Amino acid sequence: MAIEDPCSIVIFGASGDLAKLKLIPAIYELAREKLLPESFALVGYARTEITDEAFRDSCREAITKNARSKASGINKELLEWLLARTYYRSGDYGEAGAFDRLKATLEELDKKHGTAGNRLFYISTPPGVFESTIKGLGERGLMKKGAGKKGSAGGWQRLIIEKPFGRDLASAQQLNKTCYEQLAEEQIYRIDHYLGKETVQNLMVMRFANSMFEPMWNYKYIDHVQITVSETVNVDDRGGYYEKSGATRDMIQNHIFQLLALVAMEPPAGLDATSVRDEKVKVYRSVRPILGKAVDDFCVRGQYTAGEYLGKKTPGYLAAKGVAPDSKTETFSALKLYIDNWRWSGTPFYIRTGKALPQKLSEITVRFRSPPLTLFQKQNQSPVYPNDLVIKVAPEEGISIRINGKVPGGALNIKSVAMDFFYKNTFKVEAPEAYERLIHDGMVGDQALFIRGDEAEAAWQIIDPIESYWAASPKKPETYAPGTWGPAGAMKLIESDGRTWVATSDSEQQPIIACAL
Ligand code: BG6
Repeated sequence: MAIEDPCSIVIFGASGDLAKLKLIPAIYELAREKLLPESFALVGYARTEITDEAFRDSCREAITKNARSKASGINKELLEWLLARTYYRSGDYGEAGAFDRLKATLEELDKKHGTAGNRLFYISTPPGVFESTIKGLGERGLMKKGAGKKGSAGGWQRLIIEKPFGRDLASAQQLNKTCYEQLAEEQIYRIDHYLGKETVQNLMVMRFANSMFEPMWNYKYIDHVQITVSETVNVDDRGGYYEKSGATRDMIQNHIFQLLALVAMEPPAGLDATSVRDEKVKVYRSVRPILGKAVDDFCVRGQYTAGEYLGKKTPGYLAAKGVAPDSKTETFSALKLYIDNWRWSGTPFYIRTGKALPQKLSEITVRFRSPPLTLFQKQNQSPVYPNDLVIKVAPEEGISIRINGKVPGGALNIKSVAMDFFYKNTFKVEAPEAYERLIHDGMVGDQALFIRGDEAEAAWQIIDPIESYWAASPKKPETYAPGTWGPAGAMKLIESDGRTWVATSDSEQQPIIACAL
């Protein structure tokens, strides 16, 4: 959908990695897809003093190196069109004088590029300056409280805030408070880039645009759900950030919980932001709290050691820059959760994430219960492999259904086979990057794929007791060698329930069950 409103985008933290790797290339892609308004301006803001020209050069480089469509060639004319409306201002985040100068710049750009007072501010700075930036925007008159909707007098102003939205419940509440002092909820777009991924959006389509799944989508037919978000990368030079975070805060509280909520929520009354987010919040509120010693039974944390991995020697987490030599920060986390509501009573949700694992994979497996009558097992002791619905978020986006089929021939051999739907093959178009979709939605004013304030707090409410227990515990995370699927405890977590992690999507790995006629 093309953006009707003219507007300017201001990126705070414009010299950072996210801006260069994702945000600026995403804005170029929006221009390429003819989604940007004709009256448009882009302003980078950071502490370093550089000229407009130097910033344009860094944008040119970021787009040339990182744009999704770079393989088919960068459109030079379009790039120059974008750079001709790109500017840079420097200063501290929230500093009165610098924010006054930014305001004056934006007003000049309204005249020069016709941006009409509509502004999308994007905070992509380190979290330490989130609050001062928000205060500065409100107090220096760059954002008017309540002016979030199209048609607001003097233009609309919206704010996208990057993660992390707090590091626990108290800090998230504090950040919400600062936001609400300056802005209305309808102006605040808390980003989780997983919500911009195509498959994640398709999860709702799969669940609510098809009638065949819904009757089975509950504890009666589903044995359990597992969510794996694994990464091959290690912490590298992100130790400074990661030390304060760890896998649970970095990946579970936000990305994985969003996947969990979309799988588990009730059908929303509509696709508007309020209806969808109401349902997600209900899921979080229904998650059974994991308190005190129960953390040892339901949660596992791990830390990778040094080892040979991806063909080279890798130092352990403790040797990463910015990491304390006795750090207890986890680079792997696995949880078993129960959602105590009518639909999911008694159905476990196993989730795991980690760095330095064997594969980059984001996948949700919904495992159905076995057939009620064990007809085939009667002839053979091997179990018939259960049905799985696998929602693949990365690396390939798609959906796969595993069913049992008879292997052709005289014997009754049963094999688990997969019916695969891959986006790339079916639609023959490359899906947009998550940030393209989300920046676009910020410009059109659609909050459905952003996190509401109470939603962020409800998610922290689940994580807080786990983090507090770990922080107080003398125990260290279990270690795991890089290139393995995490510590032994993660296997035990699921295997002690008589289940296993479905590590890869390769149906070939599933057993062929031979039944003699
Ligand atoms: C970020 C985390 O939010 O998500 C990173 O801070 C992680 O640690 C990244 O690597 C993963 O995103 P994706 O899209 O590559 O799965």
